[in-house]
Formats: sequence, C-alpha cells, structure tokens
Amino acid sequence: MSVDPNKEVYYSSYLKIDELLSLQEPLSGGGSKPAHDETLFIIIHQTYELWFKQILHEVASIHSMFSAESVAEHQIGLSVARLERVHEIQKILVDQIRVLETMKPLDFLDFRDVLAPASGFQSVQFRKLENILGLGEDLREVYNNQAYHTKLSEGHQQEVIDSGKVTSLLTLIDRWLCRTPFLQVEGFDFWESYKEKVSGRLEGEIKDSDSGFEYLFNEEMYNSRNKRLSYKATQAALFIFLYREQPILHMPYKLLQSLMTMDELFTSWRSRHVQMVHRMLGRKMGTGGSSGYDYLRKTAEKHKVFTDLMDLSTYLIPRSELPELPEELKRTLGFYYGNG
Ligand code: HEM
Repeated sequence: MSVDPNKEVYYSSYLKIDELLSLQEPLSGGGSKPAHDETLFIIIHQTYELWFKQILHEVASIHSMFSAESVAEHQIGLSVARLERVHEIQKILVDQIRVLETMKPLDFLDFRDVLAPASGFQSVQFRKLENILGLGEDLREVYNNQAYHTKLSEGHQQEVIDSGKVTSLLTLIDRWLCRTPFLQVEGFDFWESYKEKVSGRLEGEIKDSDSGFEYLFNEEMYNSRNKRLSYKATQAALFIFLYREQPILHMPYKLLQSLMTMDELFTSWRSRHVQMVHRMLGRKMGTGGSSGYDYLRKTAEKHKVFTDLMDLSTYLIPRSELPELPEELKRTLGFYYGNG
C-alpha cells in the first residue's frame, strides 16, 4: 500500500525535493547537449547559497540578541553555540572547493562563455552577510571605481544597500563591550594598573612609537588610526582577554574568540577561492568584469571585520605580571557577569 502525501507528512513534500531537483538548468548546448560539468557548477553554487542562508539565519539571530539594551548571560552562551555551528559550516564551504576543482580549466571553458556577465560578485546573500557583520563600503576593495553593488539588479541593489544601513554586528559588539562592568571599581582601575605594569615592563619599548603601546595609551592617537573598535571597547576586550580565567569572563572570552574564528574562516574561504580561480582562469578577467585573481587576492587580504580584536594580542602580558585584582572584585567575577 502506498503512502498518501496529502494525509501525512511526506519526505518529498516536506523538503520540496521535486522542486529542488528541478532547479538545475544548464545554459550551454542551447538546450540539447549541455557541457557535462555545468551540472556540478550549478549544484555547487546552489549548495553554497543554501549554506549562506543558514549562516545568515544564525548571524541574524545573534545580531538580534545583541541589538537589545542588555544581553543576558545565557544569550552569550547561545551566541557562542551558534557561532560554533557557523564555523563548522564554513569549514565545509572551504572544503567544498575541492569538489569544484575536479572540474579542470578546459572543462570550464566548455561552458564559461555562456555565463558572462553573471558572477559570484552578484551573490546577494554573500553581500548581506558581509554587511551585517560590518564590512562597511569604505572598507571594501573598489574595482573600476564602482560600488560593490552596481552589478546587481535594481531590486537586489536595494536589498543589499538596505542591509548596509542596519547597525552591524561589529558595532553591536562594540556597544556591548563598552557596557562591560568591573573595569573601574572601588579601589581598582584596570586601565591605570595595566598601564603601570606595561610601563614598568617595557620601559624602552614604550617610548618607541612603533611598538603600538604609545597609541594604545593615548586615546587621540588611537582614534586617529581608523580603528574599527572604539577606545573604550578595546579596553574592555583587553580586560576580558587578560582575565579570561575568571569564571564570569569565560563566555565573553569565548564569544570574542568565536567572532575572530568566523572572520578567519571567511578569510580561509576567500584565500581558497582565489587559489582555485588562479588555477582555473590564470590572469583572465572574471565574468563579472573584475581583474579576477588580482581583485580577489586583495579582498582576501582586506575584507576582514574583527581584525582589531586580533590586534589585541600585541598587548597581552604574561599572567605572572598581570595587575592583581582586589579580592572583592575576584569574588564578583567568580559568580556573575551582570553586563547591563
Ligand atoms: C569555476 C569556478 C569559479 C570561478 C572561476 C570564479 C571566479 C570568480 C571571479 C573571477 C570573481 C571576481 C568577480 C568577477 O570578476 O567575476 C569571483 C567572485 C566571487 N565568487 Fe567566484 N568563482 C568560481 C566559483 C565560485 C563559487 C562556487 C562560489 C560560491 C558561491 C563563488 C563565489 C564568489 C563570490 C561570493 C565572489 C565575490 C567575492 C568578492 O567580491 O569579494 N565563486 N569569482
């Protein structure tokens, strides 16, 4: 007896498998004999877009939690868990390039001409993801003096531009860091104590303007360096990095680490993509009209969002030299974070 999909939940109907499998329509061969590898090319892009959708779903939920006036402790844990899921997806995205590389440059040439001017340049979800994370227009590599969204249809352009107007996750994290308590409590001023320790430790180096410490301790100089993280947020992040072993700081620390890992994995994807493009196209221009390899190489280097957090390692000092926290503060850090 066969099942009745109208009466009970049915695998194909629930997952819309028939619709999904009818979405691969090769363009080459004029409808008769498409190039063999075009199917792989279509399926791999569609798979990427599905994963982008899932990543956006996770990131949007974190964005929404951090949009609130205060972030509850369990929401920090939840954000970390979701970012860890994003990391796993990103690893698949990087790995998946190997499948694409089973298509060789000559196989690609069997259908490449019919694709122009379509390009990954036009991935709306990818641009939305960059925007929600905080890759502002001013931070982007510009090609041919054109805005990054000019190659999109009018409707898509609007969607992407609108996504760029929303307060980014980077800014929300900055605000959350600025609300970190404990940096200045009765009898303890983190910044002053840290500065004192560093000055003693690096007497010579601190006078050297290249060491970076000089501008770290001078708000005006810090702000003149076009940093993406505000001065106050930088102090808070450094506090979290230095005292991460205090129980209350565990989750905030993991959150900052997870954001950096996500950034790093996007860079890994960009680097793998550009390596693959180099082998596939050599120095040919992209179908989207960019210089191809050269443009992508620059974006892999430049299109990063949470680099200021990574830079903070410059200012870490050995545990043994950390300013001692007052007992009262240690007790508080042992129990509750209370970031209001
Ligand atoms: C044969 C395989 C591929 C080749 C030769 C290729 C080539 C290129 C080139 C040359 C560009 C620069 C823009 C242009 O001028 O077109 C580009 C951008 C891009 N590609 Fe690919 N690509 C391939 C596969 C993929 C796949 C599977 C994805 C997954 C979605 C992808 C996503 C992107 C994205 C998101 C960009 C924009 C990058 C940015 O502006 O930072 N590409 N691709």
